[in-house]
Amino acid sequence: MPMPVIHILNGPNLNLLGHRQPEIYGHETLDDIARAAAVLGGELGLEVLCRQSNHEGAIVEMIHEARKAAQGIIINPAAYSHTSVAILDALNTFDSPVIEVHISNIHKRESFRHHSYVSARANGVIAGCGTEGYLLALRHMASLLRAG
Ligand code: DQA
Repeated sequence: MPMPVIHILNGPNLNLLGHRQPEIYGHETLDDIARAAAVLGGELGLEVLCRQSNHEGAIVEMIHEARKAAQGIIINPAAYSHTSVAILDALNTFDSPVIEVHISNIHKRESFRHHSYVSARANGVIAGCGTEGYLLALRHMASLLRAG
């Protein structure tokens, strides 16, 4: 049996993780997260691919690619969470589990961050657990896939 493949998709400005507002987003970089996710994925029997784009259309295309290549999506759409019907529509074409991650607790921040379009599709949402949220999402993804 091939290992299920999980795509971890990250939106705008998350390429600057570790340098961007570390008091909010912490000191870990996206490479650190990708490495930790690959190690945990190995323990959980999941193959993990981490991708990032600053462009809405590119994220839509990554979701289209995941339709053919992935059994689950973990997505932090960053600022597009609060604006993008296109990303929600793309996720609605994906038939397997989707988990939304926010590093910060968006509900404790400015009111424009309180609503996420993507949450209408997500099987689960993790917010405010720092970069550990990606690893919590991976564990939950493994449970969802095990449960079938
Ligand atoms: C974020 C929260 C968003 O409001 C913000 O625009 C981001 C990151 C988070 O991970 O906490 O860029 O998605």
